[in-house]
Amino acid sequence: MSTRILVTGGAGFIGSNFVHHVARTRPDWQIVVLDKLTYAGRRENLADLEGHRGLSFVQGDIADALVVERVLPGCAYVVNFAAETHVDRSLYDAGRFIQTDMYGAFVLLEAARRSPALKLFVQISTDEVYGSVEKGSSSRETDALMPRNPYSASKAGGDRLAYSYFATYGVPVVVTRASNNYGPYQFPEKVIPLFVTHAIDDIPVPLYGDGLNVRDWLHVDDHCRAVDLLLERGRPGETYNIGGGNEVPNIDLTRRILSLVGKPETLIKRVPDRPGHDRRYSLDSGKLRAFGWEPQVPFAEGLARTVAWYRDHEAWWRPLKVAALRPPPG
Ligand SMILES: NC(=O)c1ccc[n+]([C@@H]2O[C@H](COP(=O)([O-])OP(=O)(O)OC[C@H]3O[C@@H](n4cnc5c(N)ncnc54)[C@H](O)[C@@H]3O)[C@@H](O)[C@H]2O)c1
Repeated sequence: MSTRILVTGGAGFIGSNFVHHVARTRPDWQIVVLDKLTYAGRRENLADLEGHRGLSFVQGDIADALVVERVLPGCAYVVNFAAETHVDRSLYDAGRFIQTDMYGAFVLLEAARRSPALKLFVQISTDEVYGSVEKGSSSRETDALMPRNPYSASKAGGDRLAYSYFATYGVPVVVTRASNNYGPYQFPEKVIPLFVTHAIDDIPVPLYGDGLNVRDWLHVDDHCRAVDLLLERGRPGETYNIGGGNEVPNIDLTRRILSLVGKPETLIKRVPDRPGHDRRYSLDSGKLRAFGWEPQVPFAEGLARTVAWYRDHEAWWRPLKVAALRPPPG
């Protein structure tokens, strides 16, 4: 029987790139995608794989035990990408984040606990669980977690709950903490696609605060390669940072985007800072690099390719721009 992998959130940004990656690199595997298709999940992100024999799609909620009990048993691998992911939304709708990012992880882990076929459960966490990192230092996997907004706090909950299922029940769990991803199919509420698509339409790009917050950019292809490697090399009970090694202040990122789109810097519109806005994230990825992984996509090239992808895929993002507009706090 061929190897079966469950990819939750496989219709979202990173999840759909990962499904493409697995379909390409492991054509004999059965890939089961479980996705609720929230505003961020798009069936069309997988449209070009419709003919792929091994792919099946289940629309459902990871927090729904009945659905999870139907799809998880028999899977050798589970990669849990499913999450509410937008920090801004978590500021006024935290309950949804706790429900999916923590309770949903719990439902998956409970099913994993009772699944003898399971070889590895990869819980996709984030660098944001470390909180804001001082200039000059980088987070290591053993550092304390100091999440400072409801998104990162609910991710930290899922992260540690997954570890507890290893420590308590021996579920073979690996936790990953990646830095900010960019690339094709990212929902246009996140900073890079938001700014690219605004700039294409000559809409001012809203830059938070002084623009000096630093993010470490990781191309989604490099992230997919890292998760794939961990399916083989990841040691149960361990956590792995996945950093892009491209720390860029937001103002520099904005200028690069405007230059690539061919628009003037007068499009930059300063807006008040986000509450609890972490100043800097920075990862030490030495543990993963010891397996031979390193990012392969240089930032300048990856960013140019990403801008070109959004230029070439207006039919994909135009209908999503309405949903990307932030609903009012309430
Ligand atoms: N984007 C980044 O920069 C980044 C960085 C580090 C870690 N991560 C993590 O990677 C994962 C994927 O992030 P993304 O940027 O692709 O997110 P995304 O918002 O683009 O996609 C999330 C997907 O999960 C699905 N989903 C949401 N709630 C669900 C539920 N209850 N049941 C089933 N499916 C559900 C959505 O429909 C969507 O397809 C998340 O766990 C996120 O925390 C993201």
